[in-house]
Amino acid sequence: MTQVTKFPPDYRFELAENMLYRQLPYGPDQEAVLDEKGFQRAVKIIRSWPDYAPTPLCRLESIAEVAGVADVHYKDESGRFGLGSFKPLGGAYAVVRLLMSQITAATGQEQVDPNDVLNGRYKEIASTITVTAATDGNHGRSVAWGARLFGCRCVIFIHETVSPGREHAIAALGAEVRRTRGTYDDAVRKADETARQEGWHQIPDTSDGVVVEAPRNVMQGYTLMAQEAMDQLPYQGPPTHIFIQAGVGGMAAAVVAQFWQRFGPGRFKTVLVEPRQAACWFHSLKSGAPVVVSGDLDSLMAGLACGEVSRLAWPILAPATDMVMTVDDAAAADCMRLMAEGRYGDRPMVTGESAVAGLAGFLAVARDEAAREALAIDSNSRVLLFGTEGASDPETYMAIVGRSAEDVRKNIQGSG
Ligand SMILES: Cc1ncc(COP(=O)(O)O)c(C=O)c1O
Repeated sequence: MTQVTKFPPDYRFELAENMLYRQLPYGPDQEAVLDEKGFQRAVKIIRSWPDYAPTPLCRLESIAEVAGVADVHYKDESGRFGLGSFKPLGGAYAVVRLLMSQITAATGQEQVDPNDVLNGRYKEIASTITVTAATDGNHGRSVAWGARLFGCRCVIFIHETVSPGREHAIAALGAEVRRTRGTYDDAVRKADETARQEGWHQIPDTSDGVVVEAPRNVMQGYTLMAQEAMDQLPYQGPPTHIFIQAGVGGMAAAVVAQFWQRFGPGRFKTVLVEPRQAACWFHSLKSGAPVVVSGDLDSLMAGLACGEVSRLAWPILAPATDMVMTVDDAAAADCMRLMAEGRYGDRPMVTGESAVAGLAGFLAVARDEAAREALAIDSNSRVLLFGTEGASDPETYMAIVGRSAEDVRKNIQGSG
């Protein structure tokens, strides 16, 4: 029996304006990061990978009703390439782009067909190359998957609190996993240092402004997710609101760039959502300049536990984000449960800790009159959310939801 509640849950949140918001056309500063040509190339390459399929865009009708809006859509990335998150779009794409440029350097051949990298034509060159990345789980998994798909070696750095489940998932793809002291940002520094010493190639999902090629490709790969969502929306024009979670901001920037290019400035409101204890975008946009957040940053929303914004995401998100907000881990945990239960009457879904941050942010403001007004949310609003992972860490999922993802899925089949 689903329990029907009239009001959205009461989640603690903090909402702030972005000091840097400006209604600009998508211009050269943004195109230097993500452009149409790069997008077309990424789409062509990723769509040719085995088992590529667009992930579903799900309508959350009952949640929309409870929250007092016209529509809520949730892009469910839990099934992407069987890896449990949207991440392979970025990490694996950056791996193949790196291999293509290394093959060009080794052979002098200017045009390298990515399908030839996939089918092993350059396996001797690829096998001499090592890619590396720091990760809170999902990015490392996507780089490891890409390395296995395209035939190169992979070493992944994880920090102190990355769960054993996430570690094993990376190792199962054939990568060597090294655990470092400290936070995600410490693991990023360790990966950088080791790569320089060993002559390995870094595939970071964030940029300090110096290493840009690979993180740009990572973001370019993510744009396909946004494009799929646009193609799947059942209405013309943009959604009125995108509530989107940010770690370093690469994913949110890729999504915003795609919608901004297609619909122009100011046609939809973007709200960035972060865990309270790892709110680097919140503090940066509230104060008008990049701010480094310190502390242990430890959040249940592991994919969002970052203390520094990506310098490549900055020129996109700084002018285009309307408001920034933080939510608590408790809100994310409750959202995972409400999605698994189908609490308001929607079909139950398996959603991960970082996936539901956007939903948590939306539901938190949905019951707050002042926040609704600040964001111009009303009964005509059409909200878009990106459910960026499923139960990518099965033990954590079980601990929070009280049931395994398989169990939830069985119920879905039973109810369907
Ligand atoms: C599931 C999930 N969602 C969202 C994000 C945030 O992406 P970004 O760090 O590019 O902001 C991550 C990052 O690892 C993630 O794993």
